[in-house]
Amino acid sequence: MKQMTQDCTPTPLSINNLLAMKQRGEKISCLTAYDASFSALINKAGIDVILVGDSLGMVIQGHPTTLPVSISDMIYHTRCVSRQPNQRVFVIADLPFMSYSTPIIAADNAAKLIQQGCAQMVKLEGARIEIVRFLVDQGIPVCGHLGLLPQLINQLGNYQVQGKTPADAKRILIEAQQLQDAGATLLVLECVPAALAKEISSQLKIPVIGIGAGVHCDGQVLVLYDMLNISITKRPRFSKNFMQEAPSIEAAISAYHQAVKQALFPSIEHSF
Ligand code: KIV
Repeated sequence: MKQMTQDCTPTPLSINNLLAMKQRGEKISCLTAYDASFSALINKAGIDVILVGDSLGMVIQGHPTTLPVSISDMIYHTRCVSRQPNQRVFVIADLPFMSYSTPIIAADNAAKLIQQGCAQMVKLEGARIEIVRFLVDQGIPVCGHLGLLPQLINQLGNYQVQGKTPADAKRILIEAQQLQDAGATLLVLECVPAALAKEISSQLKIPVIGIGAGVHCDGQVLVLYDMLNISITKRPRFSKNFMQEAPSIEAAISAYHQAVKQALFPSIEHSF
């Protein structure tokens, strides 16, 4: 039995609330966060989901990729984010590169994110169907991640839009269905054509959260530092500087939340 390092008080939003949002056509708003102060602002703005992404390797640690991020880094930042009084937001934590290479390793690391980090769900990249099935069998909620997979950057060679050919689009659609069948209860789709994301979102029962995947997904996620225009790297084309028309960080986060809920973001210029 692992020691809990803090009181993991259940948060009000659950996966059932997110599923219900999809069913009634309400868009799900999601931002990444890595610390308590931004987590508090995001909670206050009414954002539905925080993703403690391994993008922290780039925006917090200053690495050129997400690959150096360790499971200890993820536990530390997830705990910082989850340490909110009256927390409403649903918290997902990324399993970093090589932390889910076998089912046992995946379960051990996912358990740490949940028990020590107080995450409600873990996310992993790719069609790792057997790993997802094993985690779900252990009672660990899983979010899949398809399309552009940043942890594969050394195989891909660049961060480009995926699913542009009919064969690749079909592969991603099949993988999405396989992840759902294996028990994943959420899916992140990154950098795919809007038409493909629309088809996947309509075919799946589980909510699909897009990033660079068009407005027809069930929800949207952005890297917080990109939408606040404080990233040290160039903002991706699919992101938007919400600080441009906002007087404060709080107002920018609220504007993003409203834009997602009203399906005003992403527009065509932020889609592929
Ligand atoms: O690590 C991250 O922030 C992510 C998002 C880009 C979806 O996985």
